[in-house]
Amino acid sequence: MLKAGRQAVSLHVINCRAVASFNLNGRTVTVDVSGDMPLLWALRDHLFLTGTKYGCGIALCGACTVHMDGIAVRSCRINTAAAEGRAITTIEGLSGNGEDEVHPVQQAWIDEQVPQCGYCQPGMVMAAAALLAENPSPSDEDINSQITNICRCGTYPRIRRAIHAAAKSMAAAEES
Ligand code: FES
Ligand code: FES
Repeated sequence: MLKAGRQAVSLHVINCRAVASFNLNGRTVTVDVSGDMPLLWALRDHLFLTGTKYGCGIALCGACTVHMDGIAVRSCRINTAAAEGRAITTIEGLSGNGEDEVHPVQQAWIDEQVPQCGYCQPGMVMAAAALLAENPSPSDEDINSQITNICRCGTYPRIRRAIHAAAKSMAAAEES
């Protein structure tokens, strides 16, 4: 009985591994990890994209925010297996493929000098970009209610200013 039990456990461990293929920043990648590994760790430790940060691990702080099919998600609570066949964008891929390209949200972050320590900022930028894709002209209330990421340095006023600035520059680019 004990032997059978051990076999069952070992099969379970084998079955936990999963090969996940998904589009990451515009190119197809495959990772061979435990299927329930949080996507955050697959991105950081297996695909070596360390812009996405670990803060709380319980979907509260937003430091780990990435886009999944254009929607902001907290990668610390998304299993890697759930990324199968999806389009994942990290801070490294937000601006597109050109090295000199800067996303309007990133440009606004630079212009408004938003970051202090910087740790939360990749997640903030990803959350802001997803918000503006959904709502091109958000009010302060929209920003407050929809950007729930936490900044321990308290850069919230500059974040709001930068989101409004990015909204304006994106609207101007649309018109031209
Ligand atoms: S690390 Fe994912 S929400 Fe905090
Ligand atoms: S800039 Fe330091 S945590 Fe946000």
